[in-house]
Amino acid sequence: MIVLSKIAEVRNALRQVRRADKRIGFVPTMGYLHEGHLQLVKTAREQCDYVVMSIFVNPLQFGPNEDFQRYPRDLERDRRRAEAAGVDLLFAPAVEEMYPDKVLTRVTVAQVSEPLCGRTRPGHFDGVATVVTKLFQIVQPDAAFFGQKDAQQLAVIQQVVKDLSIPVEIVPCPTVREPDGLAMSSRNVYLSPEERTQATVLYRSLQLARRLLAAGERRASAIRAEMVRLIEAEPLARIEYVEVVHFPQLTEATTLAAGDQLLIAVAVRFGQTRLIDNLIIKLD
Ligand code: PAJ
Repeated sequence: MIVLSKIAEVRNALRQVRRADKRIGFVPTMGYLHEGHLQLVKTAREQCDYVVMSIFVNPLQFGPNEDFQRYPRDLERDRRRAEAAGVDLLFAPAVEEMYPDKVLTRVTVAQVSEPLCGRTRPGHFDGVATVVTKLFQIVQPDAAFFGQKDAQQLAVIQQVVKDLSIPVEIVPCPTVREPDGLAMSSRNVYLSPEERTQATVLYRSLQLARRLLAAGERRASAIRAEMVRLIEAEPLARIEYVEVVHFPQLTEATTLAAGDQLLIAVAVRFGQTRLIDNLIIKLD
């Protein structure tokens, strides 16, 4: 595995790879790698000849009161994990390399960025769309791999690629979970033991929604109400949102009908830690 920190070096290295007609797969991350990230690499390896991973904690996508400074970082461990998973090129730039000067250009995606996480994290998806577009310009991959764990991010990136005719195939990958159902996240390390135990309620609430749908419930409001009740039973949980929307448009769903593809999404705070999870389900 080669490890590079400069944009020009990455372009040079990949020029050779492209000349050999290899299909380049790309896995963008913010590091502190866990099994969710490594599954993206695995899928990329299956579908591509050469796998690039980026590790960059992107300041543009953090709000002023968010966890940019304390976001967990461990490049040495990430380097070992990435190599063991089969990454060919690891790109780990410093902030000064990616943003040497004030950034005046933003990629903004209307509508899809606005509901759910967009409401409580203004500017977040502009930051994500901007850095991912920039990384796509640097790596110029044939395919890029994103986790369904961040379903709204996935919808935003799909919209960017479509609207800007970026020649990259976006490959969604399933959410990887701990044995008790908690979705893997670099932020899970922030949780106290009590919070960690109660945090399984996100997954349990989604399972409840799945059961209600299977039993024939078609009122989004009833599904949300049951989920809220379950989550509120955990004393440390503070709900940010519980939503039922169409996927990938993210427009509100009220009465659900056959053929609908739905995103059931939750964001819950435990102390300072904000967790998200979701379920994408097609009704027959
Ligand atoms: P990060 O949170 O590090 O996630 C990198 C990729 O891993 C994203 O595509 C995310 O959806 C995926 N991922 C995270 N947890 C997962 C899980 N439990 N199962 C499956 N996939 C999972 O998302 C970002 O970084 C950034 O916003 C980024 C796209 C890199 C732009 O800065």
